[in-house]
Amino acid sequence: MLYRLARAGFFQLDAEKAHDLAIQNFKRFTGTPLDLFYRQQLPHRPVECMGITFRNPVGLAAGLDKNGECIEAFDAMGFGFVEVGTVTPRPQPGNEQPRLFRLVEAEGIINRMGFNNLGVDHLVDNVKKAKFSCVLGINIGKNKDTPIEKGAEDYLICMDKVYEHAGYIAINISSPNTPGLRTLQYGAALDELLVALKEKQAQLAEKYNKYVPLALKIAPDLEDQELEQICQSLIKHKIDGVIATNTTLDRSIVGGMKHANEAGGLSGRPLQSRSTQVIRQLHELLDGHLPIIGVGGIDDFVSAKEKLMAGSTLVQVYSGFIYKGPGLVADIVKNI
Ligand SMILES: Cc1cc2nc3c(=O)[nH]c(=O)nc-3n(C[C@H](O)[C@H](O)[C@H](O)COP(=O)(O)O)c2cc1C
Repeated sequence: MLYRLARAGFFQLDAEKAHDLAIQNFKRFTGTPLDLFYRQQLPHRPVECMGITFRNPVGLAAGLDKNGECIEAFDAMGFGFVEVGTVTPRPQPGNEQPRLFRLVEAEGIINRMGFNNLGVDHLVDNVKKAKFSCVLGINIGKNKDTPIEKGAEDYLICMDKVYEHAGYIAINISSPNTPGLRTLQYGAALDELLVALKEKQAQLAEKYNKYVPLALKIAPDLEDQELEQICQSLIKHKIDGVIATNTTLDRSIVGGMKHANEAGGLSGRPLQSRSTQVIRQLHELLDGHLPIIGVGGIDDFVSAKEKLMAGSTLVQVYSGFIYKGPGLVADIVKNI
């Protein structure tokens, strides 16, 4: 009820302004009695995944808290885990505004943010200051002006800096808004990247005496054969988890709606069935070798359950959280 009122106000604003205002408020309310607007006591539903115990299987997906500014607020909402980022080695402004659009009738979002973020050092400073008890995922990417052939270097720079502070590290090679990024999902480019990441992980595990799992985040727009190749690489290189999926370029479900022709990635309810289908295929192809974190269009307990039944061990929400608010986390966790 409270969220519905707040949402009515937020939805009067431009989508990005509403996002920035929400982040500012979360920051301002943290540690004050005003956090009662979103603080929730949720039942304990522990799940083991990638060698980590999560207090419940519901996480915040990457992109909402790109700079790790509100980890404590999301922790207070009862999320089992929060994935901050995508963060890049150097700060970058992202694409020109407007770059974020609501497709309200479809409960969807189109974004072409382009990894706007304040850089990995800033994120690490924020993480160090935060006090939280959920698992923290840190999602890393490459700067727009780093040539794609040198993309791996950016991931390694970020890994070096975040490793010590992360519960797991998500490798984002599936944003449609950084030119060329998705080419890292294929063939030799993927194999080379995964080899480099695993080498770095082994070095850092020794240095910090701590094993931090790596999860690869993939797109929903892959052909069956491409998905098969990715699974073979994930197994071969002993990657710890896969996050499926990022946003889609497909507009077939939202054709004709306002903003449907905006460039960028589509998320929310229109992505729901495609991402579940990808999870189902992954589940079969991976045959239990590594766990799946399911994301895409989850907007209630039923759609979360569908992702779990399709083979994911954990789920994440982004667009559904924008439309439904913190009550969505409670709805899923209580009914699981
Ligand atoms: C505005 C916006 C920004 C996003 N930024 C990122 C990002 O920086 N990194 C990333 O891996 N995914 C990003 N995503 C994708 C989400 O993490 C998620 O994979 C996708 O939106 C599907 O989930 P949903 O349907 O619950 O939103 C973003 C999504 C949205 C809507």
